[in-house]
Amino acid sequence: MKRQQMHGLAMALMLTTALPAAAAHAQAATATSAKPWMNPKLNADQRADLIVAQMTQDEKLTLVFGYFGSNQEKPKFTPSPEARMGSAGYIPGIPRLGVPPQWETDAGVGVATQRESSDPYLERTSLPSGIATAATWNPELAYKGGAMIGSEARDSGFNVMLAGGVNLAREPRNGRNFEYGGEDPLLAGRMVGAQIRGIQSNNTISTIKHWALNGQETGRMTVSSNIGDAAARQSDFLAFEFAIENASPGSVMCAYNRINSTYACENDYLLNEVLKKDWAYTGYVMSDWGGTHSTAKAANAGLDQESAYTFDKQPYFGAPLKAALADGSVSQARLDDMARRITRSMFAHGLFDHPVSKKPIDFTAHAKVTQADAEEAIVLLKNDGGVLPLTRTARTIAVIGSHADVGVLSGGGSSQVFPIGGMAVKGLGPKGFPGPIVYHPNSPLKALQARNPGARITYSDGSDPAAAAKLAADSDVVIVFAHQWAAESQDYSLTLADNQDALIDAVGAANPRTVVVLQTGGPVLMPWLSKVGAVVEAWFSGTNGGEAIARVLTGEVNPSGRLPITFPASADQLPRRTIDCDPAKPDDFCDVDYDIEGAAVGYKWFDQKGHAPLFAFGHGLSYSTFGYSDLKTSVAGGALTVSFKVTNTGKVAGKDVPQVYVGPKANAGWEAPRRLAGFKKVDLAPGASTTVSLTVDPRLLATFDSKAKTWNIAGGAYEVSLGASSRDLGAKAEVTVAAAKLPVSYDAPK
Ligand code: GLC
Repeated sequence: MKRQQMHGLAMALMLTTALPAAAAHAQAATATSAKPWMNPKLNADQRADLIVAQMTQDEKLTLVFGYFGSNQEKPKFTPSPEARMGSAGYIPGIPRLGVPPQWETDAGVGVATQRESSDPYLERTSLPSGIATAATWNPELAYKGGAMIGSEARDSGFNVMLAGGVNLAREPRNGRNFEYGGEDPLLAGRMVGAQIRGIQSNNTISTIKHWALNGQETGRMTVSSNIGDAAARQSDFLAFEFAIENASPGSVMCAYNRINSTYACENDYLLNEVLKKDWAYTGYVMSDWGGTHSTAKAANAGLDQESAYTFDKQPYFGAPLKAALADGSVSQARLDDMARRITRSMFAHGLFDHPVSKKPIDFTAHAKVTQADAEEAIVLLKNDGGVLPLTRTARTIAVIGSHADVGVLSGGGSSQVFPIGGMAVKGLGPKGFPGPIVYHPNSPLKALQARNPGARITYSDGSDPAAAAKLAADSDVVIVFAHQWAAESQDYSLTLADNQDALIDAVGAANPRTVVVLQTGGPVLMPWLSKVGAVVEAWFSGTNGGEAIARVLTGEVNPSGRLPITFPASADQLPRRTIDCDPAKPDDFCDVDYDIEGAAVGYKWFDQKGHAPLFAFGHGLSYSTFGYSDLKTSVAGGALTVSFKVTNTGKVAGKDVPQVYVGPKANAGWEAPRRLAGFKKVDLAPGASTTVSLTVDPRLLATFDSKAKTWNIAGGAYEVSLGASSRDLGAKAEVTVAAAKLPVSYDAPK
C-alpha cells in the first residue's frame, strides 16, 4: 500500500478509534476526578486512604460486618438476595463510592457449596486435596491449580476465596490435615504460598488460614493450643511467614481455637504483635465462621472483619461495634484502620478495577489441570518384585473395594466441592455437616479397563473378605482400594475404618502380587504391609482422580510424589498417644500442650526421639532410579548455597525430588538434628542429568530469640545432607557459617 494511502487510512483509523477513546478517556477522567481512588496509577495504600477519607461511619461499619451466603438450618437465616446462594459469605458493597460487594467462597480445592436444604449443589472442578498438592513438591503445579480454582471462583461470581490452609500437621490424626500442606514449614509455606499466588492471579483475594495453631478438630471451637513463642515462630508461624512473603494473601483468617488461653480472633499477640507489627502485614484479618467472641477486645486485638455474624453469639461488629465507638472502647482510628486494610486488599488484588461477573467455565481444560496435580501427588510407598507398573502380561486383574468401580473419595466439610455430574455414590456419611461423604465420579476401574483391553478385570466391592480373597487367588494381580474419610470438625484414627485391614490382609495372603491404593487424608497404619507387593498413596485425588491413579498404576505416568507428612509405625511414637480433649464435649474448654514437641513437628520429632517411622517424610519411589553427586556448599554474604547434580540412572523418564537437610554439628539449641532446607523437583530422561542450586533461607539456620526478637544463627560447623527423604540421606558436606542475627521483620529476597 502506498505511503500516502497508508497515511490517510492510518489517520482515519486513528480518528475513528480516537473519538470513542477520547470520550472514554474524558469519562474516565471525570470518574477519576469524582472518585480519585479509581485512578489505577495510584498504589493500593494511596487508593485506600482516599476512599476511606470519603466514607461515612456507617459505610465503614458495612465493610467490617459479614453475612453467611446460604440459608442455614439453625439459626434460620435468609441471606441477602445479592449474596451468592450456597456460598460461605457476603459483605455488601458501597455503591456511592464504587466499593463492590465481597462475595466469599470456600475453599482450597475449588468452589465449594455450603450444604443447602435445596438442590442442586454448585458443581465445580475439584483439585486433589491440599496435602496431595503438597505431596507433588512442585510449586508450579500448586500455582496452576490455584489459578484454575481462582478462575472458577471468579466465573462463579466470587472475588474472595477462603483458601490457603497451611496449619502444620502437628497431629497426624487431625481431621483437616487433608486441607493443608503437611508437617514442614518450608514445604507447606512454599506449596500453599504458590497456590495462593495462583488464586490471586485472577483478581481475587485469597485468605491464608487458620491463624494459628489450629492443630486438631477435637474441641476445635474451644481448645487452647499452648506453646512458647520461639517454638511457634520456628514451626507453625514460619509456614505462615513463608507463605505470606511468597504470596501476599489479601486476608488472614484467624482460627477457632485459643492460643495460650486467648481466642485467636481476639489475641493481641497473634494479630497485632506477630502478624501486623513484626511481619508488617498490610492485609486484613477476617474471623473464621463462629470465631468472633467479643467486640472491643477483638477489634483492639486486631480483628478487622467479623465473618458470617449469625455463627456468633452476638453480631459483635454490628450495633455493638457502633456502640463501642461511641463509648470510646474502640477508637475511631481503629475502625478507620479496619476499613483501610479491607479496601487496600481489594485495590491490591483487582476487585475494584476488575468487577467480578459470571462466565462460562472450561471444565475440560480444568480437568487436565487437576489431573496433572493428582498424578504428581501420588506417592509410590512400596513396590516389591516390580508389581508395578502393571504390565500387559497381567491377563486377569482383580479390583477391590472403596467404590473404585464408580469414583474416588474426597474430604468433607466446608471445603467440599460437589462433583460435576453429581456424586458417584449417594447416601454415604452424616446427613448434616460435615457430610455427605462424596466420591467424584471418575472410576479407577473404568480407567484401568480402558488401558488393559486384553485383560479380564473383575471388580468386587470388598464387603466380603473371603469372596475378595477367592477372587484375588484367581487373579494375576490384585488392586485393592482402601479409604479413610477425613472431614472438618472431627479427627480420625490411624487405623483404617470399616474392617479394611482384615480385607487387605485376606487379599494379600491370597495373592502377594497385591497393590494397595490408599485414599486417605493423612497417614494410616498398615498391619498387612508385609503381605502386599506394592502400596500407593493417592490421597483424595479430585475430579479426575480415577484417570490419574490408572495412569500411574499402568506406568503411563512415572510416580513422583513424596510424603509431606510422616507415616508413623504406631501412635506410641507420637508426642501424644491419644488426642487431647473429649469429642463428646466439644464445648468444654481443654488444653493441648504443644510444648511437648515444640518446634519438633513430624520428622523432627522422630529424629529427636530416634523413632523409625513406617514411611518417612519426603519418601517416595519411582519406576526409575536417580543418583546424586557433586554436592557443593558455599557461603557468601551470609547466605548458604548448596548445589549438586541429579542423574536419572534408570530406564524410564521420570521426576525426582532431591532434598537438602541441614543441622548444626554442635548443639545449637535446635529442636531436632536437622531441618529441610531446600528441595527441587526435576524432570529427567533416562541417563540425563541436571545441576541444582539452592539458597537456604537463613531463618532455617537460626533459632528465634523471643526477648530480643531476632533470628540467631550460631556460628560454627553445619552438616548439609542430600537425599531422597528425611531418612534416606546420602552425600554430606560440612560448611562453616558465621554467627548472625536477623530482625524479626526479615524477609527473604524475592
Ligand atoms: C469453616 C472453616 C473455614 C471456612 C469457613 C467458611 O468452619 O473453619 O475453613 O472457610 O468456616 O465456610
